[in-house]
Amino acid sequence: MTLRLANKVALITGTGGGQGRAAALLFAREGARIVGCDVRAEDDQETLRLVHAQGGQMVTRRVDLGDENEVREWIAFAVESFGDFDILYNNASACHYGKLDELSSESWHFIIRNELDLIYYAIKHAVPVLKRRGGGSIITTSSIAALTGASWGSVYQFAHGAAKAGAIAMNRSLAVELGSSGIRVNTISPGLIRTPVLDRMDPAMVDQMLSGILQSQPLKRYGQPEDIAYCALYLASDESSWVTGENFVVDGGLMAGTPSDSSKDRFKP
Ligand SMILES: NC(=O)c1ccc[n+]([C@@H]2O[C@H](COP(=O)([O-])OP(=O)(O)OC[C@H]3O[C@@H](n4cnc5c(N)ncnc54)[C@H](O)[C@@H]3O)[C@@H](O)[C@H]2O)c1
Repeated sequence: MTLRLANKVALITGTGGGQGRAAALLFAREGARIVGCDVRAEDDQETLRLVHAQGGQMVTRRVDLGDENEVREWIAFAVESFGDFDILYNNASACHYGKLDELSSESWHFIIRNELDLIYYAIKHAVPVLKRRGGGSIITTSSIAALTGASWGSVYQFAHGAAKAGAIAMNRSLAVELGSSGIRVNTISPGLIRTPVLDRMDPAMVDQMLSGILQSQPLKRYGQPEDIAYCALYLASDESSWVTGENFVVDGGLMAGTPSDSSKDRFKP
């Protein structure tokens, strides 16, 4: 059986985190050679170990993607490691939450740097390689926070939503600009996914958010990193060779609407 990413090289950002690790493991099982990166080197080394343990090929390094020079060097490291690549998956991001009168200007700039600048830098420096290669797939993780202003408990996210909406807008325009070079550009907007990002938030805030979202969600279970990785796999593979400029919502149906029979006792963690 042919593997879905046979002979492809995939760059994935944030491979130390939940969704990045799931994607690295899945893409490697489907035949891709992986170039990872993360600012959290220790978590990323664990991903490297897991990919190697399942027989996959991966290299990685510590990179702060908000620093353009580090991104430039990471792209050069990727080419040195495995040659020209086919896939760039912009998964990494870091965020602060808060209402307009709570969030500082420093937090606003932190969000723009770590949710939007890092996508721009990675795409800017990856595209010349993809053009040289004759095409490729760029996948960027947005969020349903780009599509709704809902706060789900006390998680207010106007700044996060603005950055993630920026990612969708940037990718749509780039899909138009890069289509003639054979480069496809798509975003994924996850709903709530159980990943380490939740462990770094205030537990009371997380509880409120989880219960708020689960009450509204038609499919009564938490999202898992693999739910997103499988969508990314489709977009990375040639199966999606006629798909560009699109945003894929993967959220247990949350954006579709709230079922009238919402009842807590049907929820499955
Ligand atoms: N978990 C959710 O509920 C959820 C929902 C919607 C969208 N998302 C998005 O999904 C993506 C993956 O998030 P996750 O849930 O796996 O979170 P995560 O925190 O587990 O993983 C994100 C990784 O990105 C890394 N990172 C952040 N800033 C970086 C930088 N400047 N340079 C290098 N690495 C950096 C972090 O160190 C972390 O390992 C993110 O873009 C996030 O915004 C998550």
